[in-house]
Amino acid sequence: MNDTTSVVADIPAHVPPELVCEDYPFIMGAQTSQHPFKSMVPALHDGPDLIYSTNFYPGFQPAWIPRRFETLQALYMDTEHFSSEAFSPFPLLIGESWSLVPVEIDPPAHSTYRTLLNPLFTPARMRALEDRVREAARDTIAKFKDNDECEFMSAFALRFPIIVFLDLMGLPRERMEQFLEWEFMLLHSLDIEDVAKGTRLSVDYLREVIEDRRKNPGDDLVSFAVTATVEGRKLNDNELIGLCFNLFIGGLDTVSTNISWQIRHLAEHPEDQRRLRTDPSLIPAAVEEMYRRYAAVTTFRTCVKQTSLHGITIMPGDKIAMPTTLANTDPGAWDRPFEVDFDRAPRHITFAYGVHRCIGAPLARRESVMAIEELLRAIPEFRVAEGEELVTELGPILQPKNLPLVWGGRDTRREAATAKPQTAEAPHVEGQRIGASIGEVTAFLAAKLASMEPFGKVIAMHLDDHQIVLDGTANPPALVDATETQPDVTVRASLKDFVAILNKDMNAQLAMVKGKIKVRGDIMSVMALTKLL
Ligand code: HEM
Repeated sequence: MNDTTSVVADIPAHVPPELVCEDYPFIMGAQTSQHPFKSMVPALHDGPDLIYSTNFYPGFQPAWIPRRFETLQALYMDTEHFSSEAFSPFPLLIGESWSLVPVEIDPPAHSTYRTLLNPLFTPARMRALEDRVREAARDTIAKFKDNDECEFMSAFALRFPIIVFLDLMGLPRERMEQFLEWEFMLLHSLDIEDVAKGTRLSVDYLREVIEDRRKNPGDDLVSFAVTATVEGRKLNDNELIGLCFNLFIGGLDTVSTNISWQIRHLAEHPEDQRRLRTDPSLIPAAVEEMYRRYAAVTTFRTCVKQTSLHGITIMPGDKIAMPTTLANTDPGAWDRPFEVDFDRAPRHITFAYGVHRCIGAPLARRESVMAIEELLRAIPEFRVAEGEELVTELGPILQPKNLPLVWGGRDTRREAATAKPQTAEAPHVEGQRIGASIGEVTAFLAAKLASMEPFGKVIAMHLDDHQIVLDGTANPPALVDATETQPDVTVRASLKDFVAILNKDMNAQLAMVKGKIKVRGDIMSVMALTKLL
């Protein structure tokens, strides 16, 4: 065994080998400078209706991926076989045990929370928020509109949804920068300490707000939640924090991402931009079609009862991806699926379907419409700046990392900072090179692990001349049972690649994404492991 091709994932017996896909491209942590919706999504529709990715589920674990619109709709409705429970790592990461409410709650309990929340997102309540949302869009655009250029992600897309969230929750807008920082740690860092810190800081702050609203209720969402009653009782602390946290992470990245794909579309299609400038009443219809074409979110379910999909057995414990991106461009469901046609009036699935359909959809739609209306009003025809690489972060959400725009007489930006996709090469660290002998690797790992407390321990390590297999647990100590013998993370790599990673000749995260090092574990363990490497 001399190369990584021999380092294969274990495929369960019920998975037909012809459905196994080792290179599904949207793996967490990967990046691309291609346009993923144009060059990657169409190709993903070739082949069987259902595939089995060996590493798409966060933590590089396997997941079934249905590619058809009808299948996804049926999956959303099938809460008997598929559960939404416990897909997020955040509470565990800080040693707590609440669930995201309502997205991680299965029926029948789910409907109790949904009934409670529905009145908060009625068209009337959304209309009441409209002036504030528009003002937030206008104020944010005012900061860059006279510059002839902007980097749209940092100047607008990441900030605007946070301001709207702060307004919804009755929190001061001055907290924006702080929330931006927490959001980044929570949703974009692969460093477990950052994610834990971001979770801890935002949860502590939300708890303070809950406490304050108990004493001084106002007209905001937190006040509503602390005073509301369900089944004759008030929500308990875990329910309240799960609810506030769900609204926090549910409406930030999703909105930033969708607005930026919509603006990128208009920047790259001047004819569509001109049409909306000439007739702004078309903007809501255009937004709806762009929500279809650029659906960026994949969530997951866990099978809880044996069933079958497209004649294939799905076993309890199997993870199932819910790729709105693929369903919305399924050639079997849509005429000209890859074309953006503002007159289409699509019944898309971007905001899901069934009991968990997005409660924030009416707000998200207004955010998109108002962002586009205000942008078209404030600046002349905009384009993507020349000479800059546009990079997208892949994973369960396809998010642009940058969107450089120019307008007026300009083609390029003054100080064009190009966001580079990660490359395989990482800077070499002088003086710490490890030779490719088993002894050296073992000694290095032992020393590194000792210094890595409190993030875990390796239970067993098997090395031979060619391959390394590590079985371990890498969870924070609060979650690690001292007597634990079952590994929660497994690593396999060729010795050659493993040494290259230890020597920083190869980027560990990218090597995982590319399957050069096979890692399987829960998401926290994998993030902890990246510290070891
Ligand atoms: C473009 C923006 C958005 C997109 C694409 C989006 C997408 C989704 C999807 C696909 C789901 C279903 C998840 C699943 O069942 O696995 C969902 C649920 C949810 N979304 Fe959104 N969302 C967006 C904006 C928002 C906003 C602005 C908020 C909050 C104000 C929000 C709050 C929620 C909540 C609370 C749920 C759970 C609903 C339930 O379980 O009953 N979302 N969203």
